[in-house]
Amino acid sequence: MILVLSASLNPGSRSRILAAACRDYLISLDREVQWFDLAQTPLPFCDGAAAYAADNVVQLGKLIESADAILIASPVYNFDVNAAIKNAVELTGKKWTGKIVGLMLAAGGSGSYMSAMGLANSLMLDFRCLIVPRFLYATGESFEGNQLADENIQSRVELLVNETLHLADALTR
Ligand SMILES: Cc1cc2nc3c(=O)[nH]c(=O)nc-3n(C[C@H](O)[C@H](O)[C@H](O)COP(=O)(O)O)c2cc1C
Repeated sequence: MILVLSASLNPGSRSRILAAACRDYLISLDREVQWFDLAQTPLPFCDGAAAYAADNVVQLGKLIESADAILIASPVYNFDVNAAIKNAVELTGKKWTGKIVGLMLAAGGSGSYMSAMGLANSLMLDFRCLIVPRFLYATGESFEGNQLADENIQSRVELLVNETLHLADALTR
């Protein structure tokens, strides 16, 4: 199963459009997909204590644990991913151990393309995740209303998914 994790809390999110395109492409390939949207299923702030027991945290932890790979879609905020995905990782911690993780970002401008590296480093160093060496970074011109704008961004979505599946299939067989 591939877990698609959408991190933006914005109702008009563009990174969610990327996440949905990944999900739809995976479905078209007949792959099992689970969808988790932090805007639909809110998580408490990680307090290092009681928050771990919250129902939504337990649910996300189980999905991460049983995923062959996880595709994370996040907004770029302040040259980084948003706080919501950092919080989700804090809450689910060791469930990430050894997971294959693909990353996609929606940004306002073209200069913040290294913004996934803090999260990538922490997943690698803390949980020995294998980060897919293909990052999807999209700005305004890649979107038209609540859809992808063109074939170019669609093919970049497919590239990220294909490379993630390539690794997941090789390592889970
Ligand atoms: C608090 C905040 C910080 C932002 N920081 C950056 C930034 O550092 N670099 C950038 O390119 N865009 C930045 N943006 C623009 C967002 O990345 C852009 O609006 C993107 O579409 C957000 O993702 P979302 O639509 O999935 O929520 C920022 C937006 C907000 C609200």
